[in-house]
Amino acid sequence: MSVKAYIETNKERFLNELLDLLRIPSVSADPKFKSDVHQAAAFVKESLEKAGVDKAEICSTAGYPIVYGEKIIDPTAPTVLIYGHYDVQPADPYELWDSPPFEPVIKKTDSHPEGAIYARGSADDKGQFYMHVKAFESMLAKNQLACNIKFMIEGEEEVGSENLDLFVKANKEKLQADVVLISDTSMISMDHPSVTVGLRGLAYMQVEVTGPNRDLHSGTYGGAVANPINVLCKLIASLHDEDNKITIPGFYDKVEEYDLAYRTQLNKAPFEEEDYKKKLDIAETSGEKGYSTIERVGIRPTLDVNGIWGGYTAEGAKTVLPSKAYAKVSMRLVPNQDHREIAKLFENHLKAIAPASVKVKVVPHHGGQAAVVPTDSIGYYAAEAAIEEAFGKKAIPTREGGSIPITSLFQQELGLDPILMGFGLDTDAIHSPNEHYGVKNYFMGIETIALFFKHFSSMYGKKQGN
Ligand code: BES
Ligand code: ZN
Repeated sequence: MSVKAYIETNKERFLNELLDLLRIPSVSADPKFKSDVHQAAAFVKESLEKAGVDKAEICSTAGYPIVYGEKIIDPTAPTVLIYGHYDVQPADPYELWDSPPFEPVIKKTDSHPEGAIYARGSADDKGQFYMHVKAFESMLAKNQLACNIKFMIEGEEEVGSENLDLFVKANKEKLQADVVLISDTSMISMDHPSVTVGLRGLAYMQVEVTGPNRDLHSGTYGGAVANPINVLCKLIASLHDEDNKITIPGFYDKVEEYDLAYRTQLNKAPFEEEDYKKKLDIAETSGEKGYSTIERVGIRPTLDVNGIWGGYTAEGAKTVLPSKAYAKVSMRLVPNQDHREIAKLFENHLKAIAPASVKVKVVPHHGGQAAVVPTDSIGYYAAEAAIEEAFGKKAIPTREGGSIPITSLFQQELGLDPILMGFGLDTDAIHSPNEHYGVKNYFMGIETIALFFKHFSSMYGKKQGN
């Protein structure tokens, strides 16, 4: 029986195991779910053991643990290091879900005629990293595994992977590998498989504007004392000019500008602007002048308010001039922009432009650097070959707008370029209510990853002259 036949025979079990994992509400951002996050780690460890690793361990960190497992079939064979995350985004707002976020159900939709699994984490990233566990199991069971496999599955990706840095730096030997494989990104569509070759970085900030030392009557004091919400709105509005360029001095200094040839190539990827707008129910797209939607997301930096609050927001009216106003702001960054430097520029600029009538406090949250992956490595060729064999199509290299801070850390600390071979779709609603992942994507992913192991081992062997 072939690997493909093994996957086919075990389909139901492969799906049910994932559903069990999706039932664990491993929300890393909310301490309320602490024991669930730990339970998810234990589930992952057990899954790795059942799939056939030599040893699996739960490695504690200052935060949530990292699950590590390895199968060394031959110390001279090439090694694939697999990274993924078992934590998920908060599911709120719950009322916008058609079915409870941690009670997975399979439903058929237009973009997933063969059914999609609806649950928080189905695409990001439980459904995606679990494909690796099943691809590994299948290859091992059929005696086809010709490379060593190491798994590193973390529990803090959605909160900035703050303890991963230390873990990677302290375990370089253990994590030694010839390639890193990650499925935590999207592809263009099932008809247009793609490999992600660039991700943006991130600088996440919180802003606090303080006016008077207490809330005031908006009649008694209004017009005479600065309203921190009014001021905050004005400050934020001033951060973009009329061309939607960011006005923070120095923000673009290190931004890599691409030549026309590269931009033209990027814009050749299949993309239907009309369909994009229709799916989001918007009349127009919007962004930095002079760039296409693909470029705005893939190669240009941004600044977005993620949340803004202050004053009275409950039922009815209350005439109050609030003492404080807050905002959470994220900036997506591109290669060469350093997230710490950008955070500093942001803070300095806000303080410089704030009127003397308020005090401004800026607290940087997590951050991460952008990453670009070369397309002329054995890893990339192996991904191309695997996709070609599974989908019958050549993979298109794409640049995506999301961030996975670990990608640049792997490059820096381990000298390895991660291969970002994800099987999600942009329409999977990750981080939103009704997140889902195609059943077909899941099984095609398992098959393609198994083929990656095969092609990588053989291409690597050829390079070594074996
Ligand atoms: N899977 C996403 C990253 C992603 C999203 C890549 C879309 C490509 C396309 C990942 O789990 C994620 O959400 N990352 C965070 C990073 C942050 C918390 C440091 C993000 O992008 O906001
Ligand atoms: Zn995510």
